[in-house]
Amino acid sequence: MKTYFVRTFGCQMNKHDSERIAGMLESELGLVEAKTPEVADVVVYNTCAVREGAEERLRGHVSSLKAAKTGDNPNVIIAVGGCIGQRDGEALLSYLPHVDVVFGTHNVGRLPALIASAHETKRTTVEVIDSATDFASDLPSIREHAWHAWLPITVGCNNFCTYCIVPYVRGRERSRQLEDIVTEAEKLVADGVVEVTLLGQNVNSYGRDLYGEPKFAEVLRRVAATGIRRVRFVTSHPKDLSDETIEVMANTPGVCHYLHLPVQSGSNRILESMNRRYTRESYLALVDRLYAAIPDLALSTDIIVGFPGETEEDFEQTLDVVRKSNLDQAFTFLYSPREGTPAATFEGAVPRDVMQQRFDRLITVVQASVYANNQRLVGSVQELLVTGTSRRDPNVITGRTDSNKVVHAPLPAGESAGSLAGRFVSVVIDEAQTWFLSGHFEG
Ligand code: SAH
Ligand code: SF4
Ligand code: F3S
Repeated sequence: MKTYFVRTFGCQMNKHDSERIAGMLESELGLVEAKTPEVADVVVYNTCAVREGAEERLRGHVSSLKAAKTGDNPNVIIAVGGCIGQRDGEALLSYLPHVDVVFGTHNVGRLPALIASAHETKRTTVEVIDSATDFASDLPSIREHAWHAWLPITVGCNNFCTYCIVPYVRGRERSRQLEDIVTEAEKLVADGVVEVTLLGQNVNSYGRDLYGEPKFAEVLRRVAATGIRRVRFVTSHPKDLSDETIEVMANTPGVCHYLHLPVQSGSNRILESMNRRYTRESYLALVDRLYAAIPDLALSTDIIVGFPGETEEDFEQTLDVVRKSNLDQAFTFLYSPREGTPAATFEGAVPRDVMQQRFDRLITVVQASVYANNQRLVGSVQELLVTGTSRRDPNVITGRTDSNKVVHAPLPAGESAGSLAGRFVSVVIDEAQTWFLSGHFEG
């Protein structure tokens, strides 16, 4: 075994786990990254079970690798882990028989040993455990970008929203010791990281299990105090976002004025059926408090369309909340029943065509809001963290504002894109589209 390839599906937690997987495969097995899965000796799929679509993609990918395994790459070891691995365990082999290693979300650290065992014995190896006590962050890591790091502060979730598989595949919520988080943040700063994203399914409840009360505001304050230039975090459950956290966001240099606050639905009836434990009124009141404290806040959300029992009136309530929330971004999903979750047994399935039609209407309203907000930035000067170059033109850099907006700007004469990546530059915004802004370097 000489080379590996890791393909990641799903959320930021999985992206973080994949960076640890790459780190271990390099440091423990001495592998180097292959350019494509077809030529790699070890291929790892880090999977997501949150919606049916992600599962279909996994099946497609593994099937295409099967061709390589029966053709010119017969010794390739295929490992499947993450949330589908955790959910299905051995049963995964019934529909993906050419997989060699199955692992779960709680034993990422065991992957090198499992791969080595499958390699030596030429036997399929399955290991999935119910829970773990360590954090993947303690493992070595190969970060996708030298300047950005994911920093998990909790794993798992206790909220049991009725549509959601995450509590079943990630387990109960566990917080990491505050000192461990701060120590890791300090190391990252020393390592040249300028932007960190704190991770948890519901960061606002951080610390409840360890300290008897949530301490997320303190995490934010302490991580920002390490001097890191930008601190971001996902995800905030609206029921748990405290006024203290809003105050820290408003007044702490380095904490980005960007908030992902999933609303899921604007109808109280549906919110209750989803077990979200807030109302449209309390969500909108929270949004008002946020804008009052942080006038330049960029707000994003998640919305599920077609939850069982959703009527036209319910859906219009969702459109109404979107119109009133002044959104900068929304991730919109068609409801996807997940076996084992309560909602999968609920009556009142919304017909596919109705769902799709509502989805399209929602997108139109979201886009109008995003476009209007972006237009307001024309003429302003934005500080960008340069993330790379435009796919279409290597002489145009791409970066992100504090508010997480994508900006393109032509490279000034004498600068090379490579040397700017991971650096901060000031750009004047000239033009705004729905999905990106364009500008020129200041000065
Ligand atoms: N912990 C985060 C989100 C985790 S999953 C939170 O509480 O917001 C990311 C998003 O996927 C959710 O916000 C939800 O909008 C969507 N989602 C989860 N389960 C889904 C399902 N069964 N069907 C459609 N969308 C779903
Ligand atoms: Fe899923 Fe709800 Fe937990 Fe988010 S808060 S991970 S949507 S159960
Ligand atoms: Fe998917 Fe697992 Fe994340 S189900 S959204 S990868 S926690």
